[in-house]
Amino acid sequence: MHYLKFLTAATLVQLAYAGDKIGFGPNFAVSSTGSTWIKEANTTLILPETPSPQVERLAIWPGMETSNGNLVQALAVSFEDPAANCGAQNGQWCVWASTLQDTQISGKMVPASPGDRITMHYVYNDSTGEYDQSSAINGKIVSTLSTSSGYAQRWDVAVECQVDACSRTSPPHSKPASASNLVLRERLRANQALEYVDTTIILNKADSSWTEGLYTKLSHNSGLRTVDGGKTWKVDTIALNSHLFDESDIQYN
Ligand SMILES: *[C@@H]1O[C@H](CO)[C@@H](O)[C@H](O)[C@H]1NC(C)=O
Ligand SMILES: *[C@@H]1O[C@H](CO)[C@@H](O)[C@H](O)[C@H]1NC(C)=O
Repeated sequence: MHYLKFLTAATLVQLAYAGDKIGFGPNFAVSSTGSTWIKEANTTLILPETPSPQVERLAIWPGMETSNGNLVQALAVSFEDPAANCGAQNGQWCVWASTLQDTQISGKMVPASPGDRITMHYVYNDSTGEYDQSSAINGKIVSTLSTSSGYAQRWDVAVECQVDACSRTSPPHSKPASASNLVLRERLRANQALEYVDTTIILNKADSSWTEGLYTKLSHNSGLRTVDGGKTWKVDTIALNSHLFDESDIQYN
């Protein structure tokens, strides 16, 4: 329950209006224990198709919840009116670097298409004490943001519905593209998942028990492994199932 409460506190609330419904579907999360924190995180989201029709509103994001209650949260959002939000066409997402503080702080919002590879990179900058974020589309940086957010203690990928996306059949869909492992690939096909690939998370210091903080829901992954005794962690593929939101997913109403 602590987990849900904490996640609830750190959601994409600012994009919503008071009273909007907000819910969470599939998830993959790793939390630090003790004094370990996340120095750097890098992942690439392969953008799925948007829900069709595009209703208000579905957000997919890899977030870092921090010691001062911020959520470092590069976003991909399917809006009912993509043009009004970032000049996107129907069937496109808006992507941008973002941090949820008391308000949602945003870098430049730009359109991106299903199949685009969105690399979201967060790194703690020792000279400023800020997290420097960038979002890149197919390797080209399109949106950046730096925020003083304390220390990141949890990294998680979430599928967040708001408003109409919570009461409709509007899961993200994509054909799994890159899973290297055959069993995983078959599971992904069955579930029409959306994928994050080439995820690397670097801690401030080695913590060989970090996987004890792993939480998954409606997702598959190719295995979280360390390459250097617990400081650098990698997971090749994280796949979140296609999902029909229902009342049990709703955190705010
Ligand atoms: C982040 O991941 C992308 C995609 O794998 C890679 O091209 C890039 O070099 C990585 N950047 C950093 C700073 O790790
Ligand atoms: C840290 O931030 C400063 C100021 O924005 C910047 O000039 C510097 O390149 C950053 N350091 C790294 C390692 O990116």
